[in-house]
Amino acid sequence: FACKKASCCSSRVNTKIKLGEPKVADTVDLEDIGDKKAFCRCWKSEKFPYCDGSHGKHNKETGDNLGPLIVKKKE
Ligand code: FES
Repeated sequence: FACKKASCCSSRVNTKIKLGEPKVADTVDLEDIGDKKAFCRCWKSEKFPYCDGSHGKHNKETGDNLGPLIVKKKE
């Protein structure tokens, strides 16, 4: 069973990013990351695949505890 609609399944994680595509995969060049970058893991960011802080609203509304993956250079 593969649901294509964003709103019909409560189990669906992605409700907004590239919904017309069978799979969402992104490539980011290391050179574009700089010293530190936060990647979205909540699928709510307007700047996906980067985190824009939208996980905070989601966590507040649902009691969830989602947060970004932070990629950074070693100090
Ligand atoms: Fe999705 Fe921050 S906006 S993890």
